Parts: sequence; structure tokens; C-alpha cells
Amino acid sequence: MAYGSDDKIESAPVKDWVNDWDWLDDGWGENAIEIWNDVREQCPVGSTERYGRAFMPVTMEAVRDIANNTEDFSSIWVNVGRPDAPRAPAPPITSDPPDHHGHRRVILPAFNPKAVAEIEQDMRDFCRKLIKDLDGMDAVDAAVQYTQHIPVHGICILTGLPEEDADLFRDWIYKNFQLAPKDNAVRLQVLTEMTHYIDAILKDRLVNPKDDLLTTIATAEIDGKEVDWGIKIGYIRLQIVAGIDTTWSAIGSGLWHFAQHNDEVQRLVAVPNDDPLWNTANEEVLRYYAPVTMARKVINDVEIAGCPMRAGEQTLVTFPAANHDPAAFEDAHIFQLDRQDNRHVAFGVGIHRCAGSNLARLEMLVAFQEWLRAFPNYSLDKSKKTTWANGQVRGPREIPVLLNR
Ligand code: HEM
Repeated sequence: MAYGSDDKIESAPVKDWVNDWDWLDDGWGENAIEIWNDVREQCPVGSTERYGRAFMPVTMEAVRDIANNTEDFSSIWVNVGRPDAPRAPAPPITSDPPDHHGHRRVILPAFNPKAVAEIEQDMRDFCRKLIKDLDGMDAVDAAVQYTQHIPVHGICILTGLPEEDADLFRDWIYKNFQLAPKDNAVRLQVLTEMTHYIDAILKDRLVNPKDDLLTTIATAEIDGKEVDWGIKIGYIRLQIVAGIDTTWSAIGSGLWHFAQHNDEVQRLVAVPNDDPLWNTANEEVLRYYAPVTMARKVINDVEIAGCPMRAGEQTLVTFPAANHDPAAFEDAHIFQLDRQDNRHVAFGVGIHRCAGSNLARLEMLVAFQEWLRAFPNYSLDKSKKTTWANGQVRGPREIPVLLNR
């Protein structure tokens, strides 16, 4: 497929998800789980020509085979989009071995279990304040007024990014994931704006060092060698695009689910916060509503589940689809609050497994506990519509609810 550099991909609605899938189709966000289940009944790997040739594996085996194969699949492209899209590094997620390991070591300490556990009370107070702000209201938007704020708060505490710029971060995230895969001009605009913003903030940390990840990154070295400035900017770009709408989506999906399953809410609020039921519920939200689908560039001709892929093509790493594979989970189609054996791949597998999983789990748990205890009888407001983000990070962006206090 040929593209002019100014072209935007214009797309007709998808009619055939096996041979013509599109993760930015209007139907994806709301219906992705049924879509993957339907495709899986027909074959383990769907395909499309919409972004050049690109694949969509839907079984656990195929997804794992791709994620674990860094010889034939590269992370230099982690988003299926126009093949001629301008792309900039955001390590470690865009790095391959051997460089990947060093980059991961730079950022990992900020998200270790101890650092994350220390912010629990702060996160809880923050959620309570958001809930307090709903005093006197009965019809609210659980996404706009609650879920979207929580991960920004967490990421800002741990990195040192200024929380007052939250709207800017969310605007970049929207453009990057919802528009950029089809529109190079938007991708370039987001890249340029983010680069200028991060450049200034990192330069400030060189002069005014603080005890935060921004300062660690501003002065980062790998094996005694100073890290290139463009890579340092990439580390922070990744924190913004990986650390916010991912968890926002997971919390939102959970609240959307629980709004329709009051029996489960009652089971949860009947037990204390340290009861294992809260953890199994958190993990089941992650399995069932896993928000993040990654991608790879195919760098050698290879076959996955009988499907030939050629060097230069693209493939999704559809972790959320793998989580619904009946070959990997008993009663995969059923949301089980107390599921015991739950080896989901919401956080990925292999060398790129999510570096922020401790933080994401904590934010989700605290957000659910505070909301469900405050509004144990809330329900969806059926007079309005829940809206969903499509593409790489799937989750509800508007969840109208009645609090039924
Ligand atoms: C529920 C929320 C989240 C989900 C479902 C999620 C999911 C994922 C997945 C699937 C990957 C694997 C990428 C790949 O294989 O290419 C990943 C990587 C990553 N995630 Fe998350 N993530 C979440 C929250 C976060 C948060 C809060 C952060 C904090 C900044 C974060 C930072 C990262 C980083 C830095 C990587 C790259 C690791 C590497 O390449 O070595 N994530 N995440």
C-alpha cells in the first residue's frame, strides 16, 4: 500500500474482523472481547491490509510466541499504524536486546514494591477527596470525575511530573492512541510537543535536582556512560503514555463492570480491605478487561500458528485477547470474582513485562475499595451512554452512573 506523506488513512467500517480488522474502528472499544472470541472460532491469527499487512493473534499460544520471540519480532514499532509513520524511541518499551536491559534498569527502581507501597495512603486520600467532591450529586460520570484523575496522581508522585499539566497529558494520550496511527501529521505534532515539554523539565532538573525519577533520568548513565539526551526524553515520554490511560482504563472497566453486578459489590464490601477476595477481584478485572494491546515489527520471515508473516509487516500482540482464550482459562467467558488460577497476560510476558505493574495494581485496588465502599448501590445511568477508547489502550472514557446513595 502506498501512502503520501500528508495522507490520512480514511477507513470504512469493518465488516470482516478476520481478514480486515481495524483497532480504530468504532466497534472495537465496546465490542473487542466478542470480536476476539469470534475471530478465535475461525482462526488463531486475523489479518488486515489497512496499515500495510498487519496481524492480530487471538490465542494465548500465538500471543506468547510473539512476545517471547525477540529475534523475529522487534519492538521498534510498538503500535500498528501507518508503516511510514514518524517514530521516536521510548525505551525500554521500544528497545530490543541487548540495549533493552540497561534502559529497563534505569527506570525500574522508581516502581519497586516498596516505593509503591509508600504511596498507598496518599492514593487513598486522593480517591477520598475525589469522592468528597461528589457530595450532593446523584448522577455523575465515574470516568470523568473519578478514574481519569487517579493514575495521573500516582505517576506524578513517582516521577515528579507536575500534576497541574494533567489535561495536557490526557490530550497527548488521546491524540497519540486514537488519531496518530492513521495520521502522520498528528503523530508528529504530539512527538514535537512532548519533546519540547520534556526537554525543558529535564533541563530544569539538571539545575534544580530533586528526589524523583525525573532527576534520576536527567543524569542517567548506563554502565558508566551517560545516556543520550534523546533517549532520556524517550524514557519520560513512555512514563506519560504508558502510566496514565492504562490504569485509568482498567479502573474504569472495573467500575463499569461492578455497576452492573451489585451482587459482586456486596460480596466485596462485606470483607475487610486486606481480604484476599479484593486481590482476586483486582486480578480478574485485569484478566477480563485487560486494556493494553501492544505491537511488533516483523523483522524476519516467520510463521505463527500456521500463519506466515513477512519481514517488514506488523503484528499486534493482543494480550487482552489471550486472556479470553478458553484453552488457557477455565470458563474464560465468565468473570469470576474469586478466580484462583489466573495466569493472565494483562501486563505482557517476556522481557518487556510491565514495569509499572505494582503501581497499577495498587491504584486499581485503592480506587475500587474507596468507590465501592462509598457507593455500594451505584448503577449505570441507562439514560446515557458509556463511551470507549479504541485501539492500543481500550477502556471507558465516559461512564454515566447513578450513585443511589
Ligand atoms: C493496568 C495498567 C497497565 C497495564 C495493563 C499495562 C500493560 C503493559 C503491557 C502489556 C506491557 C508490555 C509491553 C510489550 O510487551 O511491548 C507494559 C510495559 C510497560 N509498562 Fe505497563 N501497563 C499498565 C500500567 C503501567 C504503569 C502505571 C506504568 C508506569 C509508568 C507502566 C509502565 C510500563 C513500562 C515502562 C513498560 C515497558 C517495560 C519494558 O519494555 O521493559 N505501565 N505494560
